[in-house]
Amino acid sequence: MNENIEFLQAFLKNPGKVGSIKPSSPELAQKMIDGITPNASSAVLELGVGTGAITKFLQNIVPDEHSYLGIELDRDLAHLLKRNFPDLSIVRGNAVDSWSIHQRSGIGRIGSIICCLPFVSLPNEVGERILQQVDRFMQEGDCTFRTFQYAHGYYFPSAIKLREFMRKRYGKARKSQLIVKNVPPAYTLTWNS
Ligand SMILES: C[S@@+](CC[C@H](N)C(=O)[O-])C[C@H]1O[C@@H](n2cnc3c(N)ncnc32)[C@H](O)[C@@H]1O
Repeated sequence: MNENIEFLQAFLKNPGKVGSIKPSSPELAQKMIDGITPNASSAVLELGVGTGAITKFLQNIVPDEHSYLGIELDRDLAHLLKRNFPDLSIVRGNAVDSWSIHQRSGIGRIGSIICCLPFVSLPNEVGERILQQVDRFMQEGDCTFRTFQYAHGYYFPSAIKLREFMRKRYGKARKSQLIVKNVPPAYTLTWNS
């Protein structure tokens, strides 16, 4: 089945958790992985894998199965991902449990987090718990956290809250130009520890 249709089906089933009607565009995906160089001692953690729009790009730079861990909540999408990316470690699970999922995975230290979660439409408490998990990885040092925020939601309280949470700990974000070739247009935001 077409990736757009799979994604739309997931959105219709659970709009708040999926948070968008279309997967990320190649332009946004490329921006999300720019400068990321995963290896077994600096693995990449992808949160909210969806249909794998960014994973397709990550796959080209991930050298082996010890350098990538993906977490996706939706059962059907996780099933599809396991079929489409048999060489990558993708877990059906909740990003609120990222730390323990990583501990159980046998994957090495996380050196970058590519986060595609729709914080704007997630319940506050869930967003907060996920940020605490992100912070645990960042606190280990030498870790990059990158996410995207849609332009129309950039000043929504939960989007501001995420930026404030990160700014207090890791300084001002590196913000990309607006990526207009994405529906809807988005910025990427990057912090380093
Ligand atoms: C906006 S989509 C992004 C999908 C894909 N990475 C992309 O860029 O096209 C967000 C994804 O996060 C997943 N998601 C939402 N809440 C989650 C959670 N608590 N833990 C893991 N995945 C979650 C949704 O099921 C959805 O696939």
